[in-house]
This record gives sequence, structure tokens and C-alpha cells, in this order.
Amino acid sequence: MTFPSIATPVVQWQASHGRNHLPWQQTRDPYRVWLSEIMLQQTQVSTVLGYYQRFLDAFPDVASLAAAPQDAVLALWSGLGYYSRARNLHRCAQAVVQDWGGAFPRRAEDLATLPGIGRSTAGAIASFCFSERVPILDANVRRVLTRVLAFDADLAVARNERELWDLAQQLCPTEDLQQAMPRYTQGLMDLGATICTPRKPSCLVCPLQQQCRAARFGNPENYPVRTRKLKRSSEAWWLLIAVDGQGRVWLERRPQQGIWAGLYAPPVFNEREALE
Ligand code: ADE
Ligand code: SF4
Repeated sequence: MTFPSIATPVVQWQASHGRNHLPWQQTRDPYRVWLSEIMLQQTQVSTVLGYYQRFLDAFPDVASLAAAPQDAVLALWSGLGYYSRARNLHRCAQAVVQDWGGAFPRRAEDLATLPGIGRSTAGAIASFCFSERVPILDANVRRVLTRVLAFDADLAVARNERELWDLAQQLCPTEDLQQAMPRYTQGLMDLGATICTPRKPSCLVCPLQQQCRAARFGNPENYPVRTRKLKRSSEAWWLLIAVDGQGRVWLERRPQQGIWAGLYAPPVFNEREALE
């Protein structure tokens, strides 16, 4: 296919219309950028802001996080949800200290070997902190790129997912990487979050409108294509809420496997009879 050229418009749009004052954008410290990316994986920016600052106050660097008890890490994560992120965060800090001499590796390929850091998060850290020419492909960016390219292959198929990664790699900036890579990465995230939204994208004010195949065909909402649906399951439980005269609530530590691993919770029972 002939290749749309998106790097320059994305970089220019990011500088004038993107988000440029978030706390994790004021640094190239990989510890701070990594922490923000993990928190932002399943949580929106407005929620992350407060947690991010409290976390950094308690653990200002990777060594202090690695040395902390797991309880203290989970307590600071309490309320953010998806607690496997916090357990992996802790394990990752310990791996950086033990396997990398206390400094995060600089290459996305090496970052992706660490606990909790997938290919896209590795790309974000390497491009933000070290200006490496590597792509990201989180849900927002996947939506932008599949639309720009009119990439309609089923992303549930691993080969198609790999092909989209290859295309994302080729679309990266080719000049002035030191400045351009962080802006480009942030610009794609910002476009996905504010302009190229899942429903009713704002194509008329999008810097990629001229290059965008989906906009030309008038069907952006058909992208991305993914057949496999998320499997959800439900369970019903009985929780024992036992409170003593001083208002203290009985909590038990959950096992390290399964839901709420390592967290404190009221005793859980499958049946009412068992609880009673
Ligand atoms: N979501 C993931 N990474 C982000 C970032 N750097 N800024 C804003 N939202 C994000
Ligand atoms: Fe998304 Fe529309 Fe921009 Fe294409 S033109 S990238 S569909 S907002």
C-alpha cells in the first residue's frame, strides 16, 4: 500500500493541541514514566493524578519501591483497581534492582522482559524517556491507526496483530527523533483520547483527516475489527462483616493467587450456610 505520512502532523498537532502539562510529562525519569504508564493502563487521568503523587511521595525511586513490603505498595494502590498491576509493579522494581543494577534498561526490547511491562508500555517508556524509534499500540492508538490505514483484518488473529505492529513501526517519525518521538507517542495517545473516539470521532478537526482512509470512506466506526469477544463470568459470594465493640472490622488476607490476591478482605463464603 502507499503509505500515509502521519508523523509530522501528529507531532505538530501534539505541540499545539495535545496534553503537555501532565506531571509525568515533566520528566524523562523512566521510574516516573513507568509508574504513570502502569497506573494509566486501566485508569483515567483524573483518577491517576492524586494516586501518582502520593505514590511518589512514599517511594521516590525504584530502590525504595523494591525495598518496601508488598502490603505498603498495595495500600497505596488501594482504590485504583486491577491489583495485579501493583503486584507486578513491585516485582518489576525488584527485578530492576536485582537484574539491571538499579537502573531501568533503555531499550523497549529489554523493558518488555520486565514484569507487567508489555510491548506497548515498553514502547511508551522507551520513546518518552530515550526517544527510541519504537511504536506503541494501546487501545486508543490501535483505533487511530486502524482507521488511518483502513486496516480491516481481524486483530483477534495473531498474524494480523503482528502486521499492525509492523505498520505502526513504519509510521514512526524518521527525523529529529530526540524531540519527535516523545511528541509523536503522546500525540497518538491524545488523538485517540480526545479526537478519534470510539463513537462519533471528530474527523473535521483531526490533523490526520487528509491522510485518513476511514474518514474518506466515511466509516471510521467500523475500526478496529476484532471478532473474539471478551469472556465475562459472574459469581455470587457471601461476605461476613464482623465488627467488634470498638468498630474494628474482621479482615483476612487473601491468598497470593486469584481475585484480590494479597489484599485484605472480609471472610468469603460460597454459601450462606457456610457463613452462618
Ligand atoms: N494514557 C497512557 N499513557 C498516557 C500518557 N502518557 N498521557 C495521558 N494518558 C495516557
Ligand atoms: Fe480518526 Fe477521523 Fe482522524 Fe481518521 S480523520 S484518525 S477516523 S478522527
